[in-house]
Amino acid sequence: MKTQVAIIGAGPAGLLLGELLTKEGIDNIILEQRSADYVLGRIRAGVLESVTVDALDRVGVSQRLHQEGLPHDGIELVFEDMHHRIDFKKLIGKSVVVYGQTEVTRDLMAARQAKGTTTYYEATEVTLHNIKENDPYVTFMYQGQSMTIYCDFIAGCDGFHGVSRKSIPDNVIKEYERVYPFGWLGVLSDTKPVSDELIYSYTERGFSLCSQRSATRSRYYLQVPLTEKVENWSDERFWDELSQRLYPEAARHLETGESLEKSIAPLRSFVSEPLRYGHLFLAGDAAHIVPPTGAKGLNLAASDVLYLADAFIQHYVEKDATGIEEYSQKALKRIWGAERFSWYMTTLLHHFDQDDVFTDKMRRAEFMHLLNSEYAQLSLAENYVGLPY
Ligand code: APR
Ligand code: PHB
Repeated sequence: MKTQVAIIGAGPAGLLLGELLTKEGIDNIILEQRSADYVLGRIRAGVLESVTVDALDRVGVSQRLHQEGLPHDGIELVFEDMHHRIDFKKLIGKSVVVYGQTEVTRDLMAARQAKGTTTYYEATEVTLHNIKENDPYVTFMYQGQSMTIYCDFIAGCDGFHGVSRKSIPDNVIKEYERVYPFGWLGVLSDTKPVSDELIYSYTERGFSLCSQRSATRSRYYLQVPLTEKVENWSDERFWDELSQRLYPEAARHLETGESLEKSIAPLRSFVSEPLRYGHLFLAGDAAHIVPPTGAKGLNLAASDVLYLADAFIQHYVEKDATGIEEYSQKALKRIWGAERFSWYMTTLLHHFDQDDVFTDKMRRAEFMHLLNSEYAQLSLAENYVGLPY
């Protein structure tokens, strides 16, 4: 088989890149190691910046997003007994849309299927060859058969554990990482959200986040030690702990119910540089991870593939390699901006066991600064709604 761009991974990064390329007539094939149902079974964050909404508009995959997505003009920040609303609309004139990443993935998959663009699900042993040369190719196993795709470029959109980043020699790639000493225990439930807006809380018992998927579906998170096991958390224990990490008025409005999903995810900041090695380009979680505090993961994946798709379009349509040459540098600029913000929000809002009293004092002083300074609020709003693309 031959294609122009072989895309590894059918998460939001790979699927969006595929749509952007197909729209311009650039041939592409996606290889995904899991089944489509498995990919759709993963519950991920759900806050879209306007750059992501615009990208979905551009490929005509935003109809359901505009019908069902919930525009949010602000968030509530709570620090012990203080709370403050960050009003994005007033501060910076922008907002975000709450719409689950799973739904974005579902919409992109449906669009791809409707066009009949090739995707191999359950493709195993995906291996990249000759990525530094002019004739790269990808081999994989599909339904017991060995297959080969010859291509011009390979887009590594295969997430943090994928094969693409690992195909770059160790002496070329540099990795920067911070692993946080806690995780998030998440619950999805068909209950009315406790508030119209998201509530991020720092409490002595640890961080909590109240999020949502719709007017009748909630998503809640609790900071837990990395050693915690999900089996130890009955629904009752979860609701009890969450209500203790909310301010009294919010706790009174908390509607509880059976959990539809419950899982623990570790928190990590990670960046690999550069994003290009010969004919291989990394995008999305394959290249970087952010802790979820600030909901930047999906949005960064979207901005990476926008830069990458435009680079390929410039190469094929205008016969100009500038975009390809500049991809890594351009994408990394926005990536480090989002890394900084996610690290800042994580550090501000979580309880670190090993903290000394001075660090606790600094965290409180930082929150007081946010309460008292419209400039500080503006900076938070500017980052939350998404840095310029
Ligand atoms: N071969 C083929 N596919 C693979 C391989 C492999 N060796 N390894 C991983 N994959 C697939 C995974 O099964 C997954 O479906 O690549 C896909 C990567 O998707 P995501 O992990 O969703 O990553 P990405 O598309 O970059 O989306 C980033 O997703 O993880 C969240 O927080 C993250 O919101 C962010 C967004
Ligand atoms: C979510 O809804 O899952 C969510 C929202 C905001 C975050 C993280 C996760 O910062």
